[in-house]
Amino acid sequence: MENKMEWWKQTSIYQIYPWSFQDSNGDGIGDLPGILRRLDEIQALGVETIWFSPFYESPGEDFGYDISDYTSIDPRFGTMADCERLIKEIHKRKMRVVLDMVMNHTSDKHPWFLESKSSTTNPKRDFYIWKKGNKKAPNNWISMVGKSGWNYDSKTDEYYYSNFLSFQPDLNYRNPKVKKTMLGVLDFWLQKGVDGFRLDIFNSIYKDEQFRDNPFSFRFFPTPDNHDEAFFQKKQYNLNLPESFSFAKEVRKHISKYKHKPFLIGEVSGSDQVLKSFLGEKADGLNLVFQFELIHFQYKAKFFKDLLEKNETVFPNPYTPTYVLGNHDQRRYIDRLGGDVRKAKLLVCFQFMARGVPIVYYGEEIGRKEGRLSNFFGKDPIAKMNRFLPLFLSNLLGIYINRDNCRLPMLWDDSENAGFSNGKPWLPVGSFQTTDTVKVQKKDPNSLWSHYQTLFHLRNNLGVIRDGSLKTIETENVDVLCFERENGKQTLRVYLNFGETGVRLDVTKKGKVLYAFGGAEIGETILLPAHSGVIIDVTGKKSLKK
Ligand code: GLC
Ligand code: CA
Repeated sequence: MENKMEWWKQTSIYQIYPWSFQDSNGDGIGDLPGILRRLDEIQALGVETIWFSPFYESPGEDFGYDISDYTSIDPRFGTMADCERLIKEIHKRKMRVVLDMVMNHTSDKHPWFLESKSSTTNPKRDFYIWKKGNKKAPNNWISMVGKSGWNYDSKTDEYYYSNFLSFQPDLNYRNPKVKKTMLGVLDFWLQKGVDGFRLDIFNSIYKDEQFRDNPFSFRFFPTPDNHDEAFFQKKQYNLNLPESFSFAKEVRKHISKYKHKPFLIGEVSGSDQVLKSFLGEKADGLNLVFQFELIHFQYKAKFFKDLLEKNETVFPNPYTPTYVLGNHDQRRYIDRLGGDVRKAKLLVCFQFMARGVPIVYYGEEIGRKEGRLSNFFGKDPIAKMNRFLPLFLSNLLGIYINRDNCRLPMLWDDSENAGFSNGKPWLPVGSFQTTDTVKVQKKDPNSLWSHYQTLFHLRNNLGVIRDGSLKTIETENVDVLCFERENGKQTLRVYLNFGETGVRLDVTKKGKVLYAFGGAEIGETILLPAHSGVIIDVTGKKSLKK
């Protein structure tokens, strides 16, 4: 069923962390030829858009989020020819490519920064944010990792600013040359055919021109969807500046001249109002932003109902909500469910059937679990910063320190290192069972992988899931979430039982069952065992043939 809505509003996104997906040359690090080998499997799952975490040249201190050349491929991952082939092969399979673009900062090994640092009169000095300090940091700004964002350079006796780690100096977007250069980087990749960009910490792009001190806040711990009050500071002057909102529109305008309609998805955080400012009052800013509410879901029907209603109120069409269960910075959701696949299926059904874009992090489709790697030996720079904090304590405090744990290699099959590499993997594969692998789950119609596949295919085949409106429906039971999707041609109802006991629902409307899982049965009534769900076409005109 074709419809007129822009493609990126209807898409589904699958995130690949190149380090951990598939190694092809035995060095223990995933690479582009490895990804190429797995494209058919990704296509079979039903994914439309693949987002790649960075594979540009980088010292790798933050595993690619510290770029030293924006228009090259890091030799660890392959060559530019591999990348061009990858883009071509993805397009051949009717899928799309999104690259991660770290516009906020470079690596401190980037030639621009090396020049900038060399003297106060170097032409690249103003590519970054430098300030005199009078023996102390120029102001009180705390970075996103909880320390002063100012870094002293003894050679020129000035401080440079970094809103993340010290080796990631922030570019100065008040310098028109920086803006021009970085928009040129986007052009470089758009001309190679990429379909969009994931914009890393885009909320941090501009800093206050007058460098005013941030006001005090009572809040200490940041959450995935709120960094703007943390570490006892309201980050009024170093995050979410109005200039960043305007820049979102500028970038949107810049890329909109491309005929293939590329899009932007921003990593920003803050209140719904802040997110909306990035999206633009006329939906003319970033096309999408990550919405992280699902990262701290409560496994209760009410939580999901409230979330749907909130998104319909705050982000009605033409805004498009996104639903994120995890990424390379967060504890994997399956662990937050105690490994319970029944519950995972419910959550994923919610994610795929809601109005908006579902975003899946590699491995979620097989319920890939977290590692238990200590903070002390962490490779992740955040772990290195906090290495003396024991894992149990950071877990107890609910803070995620060692991101290595959500970046473990993909589990493909039961061969050596789960089919990820025939060398020593850069992070341990860990213990696993054959039923945890793609190979085995693909053959089992009741596996989590097959559940994802069914949902991806439902979305791909039924326009109403992609372009339909959404409303929640009251049910007789507080544990049951019900919502309806409707596009004038077709109406679907989704019932999900989050309770611990079975529920029988009297429903007047009948229709065709498109998908039932967890033992749900439909006759005169709907029988929903604990943690089961069903998708019904109440117009009954179409049914899914997989
Ligand atoms: C984003 C990335 C994270 C990275 C940071 C600095 O939050 O998702 O992995 O460490 O930005 O670039
Ligand atoms: Ca490799």
